[in-house]
Formats: sequence, C-alpha cells, structure tokens
Amino acid sequence: MGYEEVDLNVGCPSGTVVAKHKGAGMLGDLRQLDDCLADIFSRCPLKVSVKTRLGLYSAEEFPAIVEIYRKYPLSRLIVHVRDRDGMYKSEPDVEAFAPALSCPFPVEYNGNIFTPADLDSLRQRYPNLSAAMLGRGAVTNPALFRELRRGGIPRLRSCAELYGLADEGAVVLSALHVPGFRPGRQGDPEIPHPAGLPCRRLGAVSECGA
Ligand SMILES: Cc1cc2nc3c(=O)[nH]c(=O)nc-3n(C[C@H](O)[C@H](O)[C@H](O)COP(=O)(O)O)c2cc1C
Repeated sequence: MGYEEVDLNVGCPSGTVVAKHKGAGMLGDLRQLDDCLADIFSRCPLKVSVKTRLGLYSAEEFPAIVEIYRKYPLSRLIVHVRDRDGMYKSEPDVEAFAPALSCPFPVEYNGNIFTPADLDSLRQRYPNLSAAMLGRGAVTNPALFRELRRGGIPRLRSCAELYGLADEGAVVLSALHVPGFRPGRQGDPEIPHPAGLPCRRLGAVSECGA
C-alpha cells in the first residue's frame, strides 16, 4: 500500500481504548508489551516507531518501560511526558523523560510546546535532544513551526497563504478539520480549544479572512 513506517500508539488515554489494554493501556502489563513488540518486530517488514506515555499511573514506571523499548530496533521513540492519568492536563514531567535518551535510536520529546520559550527551556534541559513533536501547539497555531525557527509570525491576508504554511510542516488541514475549529479574526481573544484543552491565541490565523 506504499507505507514505509508504522507508528504504534502506546499513548492513547481514551477510557474505551485503555479498557481493552490498548493505547496507554499497554503500559499496564510490560510482559505483554514486550511480547507484542517481539511479535511485531519478528514479522513486520516496515519500519516501526512507538509513541508512548511515561506510564499508566505514574512516571516512576518509565525506566522499566524504556528497558523494554531498548530491546527492539525502533525507527524512533516519541515520548509524551505524561502518564495516562494525566490525560492532556497534568504538568508535563520533563525530568522523567531523561531515561529515554539512553536509547540507541532517535528519541523525540512531546508535551506542551506552545511557544519558542517552551522549546528554549527544553533545549536548555536537554541540549542533545534531536527532535520534539508538537501536538496542540501546531493545531492551534499553524505558524508555530515558523516561529520556532525564529521566522516570526506571518501576516496572512488570505486562506491560500494559510494553506501555504502547510508546506512548512504545519498541520493546517488537520486544524481546519478539528470539530469546532474556526479561523480567528484580528483582535480575537483566546480561541477555545475544541476539546476544552489549554491553548494559546491563534496568532497566525488571526488575520485570515478578515
Ligand atoms: C484532538 C487530539 C487528537 C490526537 N490524536 C492522536 C493520535 O491519533 N495519535 C497519537 O499518537 N496522538 C494523538 N494525540 C496526542 C498528541 O499527539 C500529543 O501527544 C498530545 O497532544 C500532547 O502533545 P501537546 O502537549 O503538544 O499537545 C492527539 C491529541 C489531541 C489533542
């Protein structure tokens, strides 16, 4: 089908998913996680990456979880620095991320990067970090990638320009398909996140369509 890589989601916190021991629920039984990865890596011809949380109930679970991942040739490991119970709300546990950096494959940090200052502080703590993944920050501000590269906030005059940002890795299309999402207008205050999650003003989109 043309796919080159499979990303295993060991981070989904949804109750219905976790109840079936899938998503972050896989972190509740490390032997089963180990067996699952062994099975996947013995048969999957594609590259396999993993997106994980720090644990099911606590970040203290993470060192043991990392030991499992280390056994396999992951193409990369993305760590959302919350446990499952933290959903999207708990304070990201930046310190608990440290053991992941001992892995022999690329490791990416994920959690609450909304501004260049957030990335700066992460880089100060982990100067050798090679990549970070953006979630809500990118959905709520499609120009965030540009801002993080110090390109500044673009002044958009049309939706065509907004779509053009997608070329820079932004997730404009995703943003426009999030239920409840609407492009902002100049002077708008905080744009409520569709899922009620904390987010910042839609800086890049605020002039679109005005
Ligand atoms: C509406 C929504 C949908 C998401 N869907 C997925 C998904 O399909 N797969 C996945 O691995 N993570 C998914 N996530 C989690 C994000 O990838 C990310 O781990 C999480 O939002 C934390 O990063 P952030 O603090 O930068 O938002 C989703 C998050 C949100 C808010």
